[in-house]
Amino acid sequence: MKIATASDHGGFALKEEVKKHLMERGIEVLDLGTHSEESVDYPVYGKACGEAVASGKADLGIVVCGTGIGISIAANKVKGIRCGLCTSVEMARLTKQHNNANILALGGRTTETGLAMEIVDTWLDTEFEGGRHQRRVDLLDQM
Ligand code: RB5
Repeated sequence: MKIATASDHGGFALKEEVKKHLMERGIEVLDLGTHSEESVDYPVYGKACGEAVASGKADLGIVVCGTGIGISIAANKVKGIRCGLCTSVEMARLTKQHNNANILALGGRTTETGLAMEIVDTWLDTEFEGGRHQRRVDLLDQM
């Protein structure tokens, strides 16, 4: 399993924590930047992560900006990407069960680190339910 990570400056600190956490779980990480707290543009990093997942370079992705909003919008513009912005463990469970989200978005300035790791673990450890949700995911992928 390989997970691509990407953030802007607002998400950099949390991205670093997420990377450490993933590596502790034995997961290979493809870090697409940014690599410091110097100001950068989140669309560049959301797009890079979306393309890495859509092309199969990574199995899944995790993106982080200040709120998670801008970078999730960017990732979702890449065809084949279903990026879910999660601020709770329940949202993390549901975005895998119902949306089969292939990228998780987090807010580095809005979600504290402990909760963010619980969100990451829940999203990774939850299975897609399929059934009626498969039809809806197929409709998303046709857009
Ligand atoms: C950057 O200041 C901030 O706008 C960005 O990290 C993010 O929150 C955008 O949605």
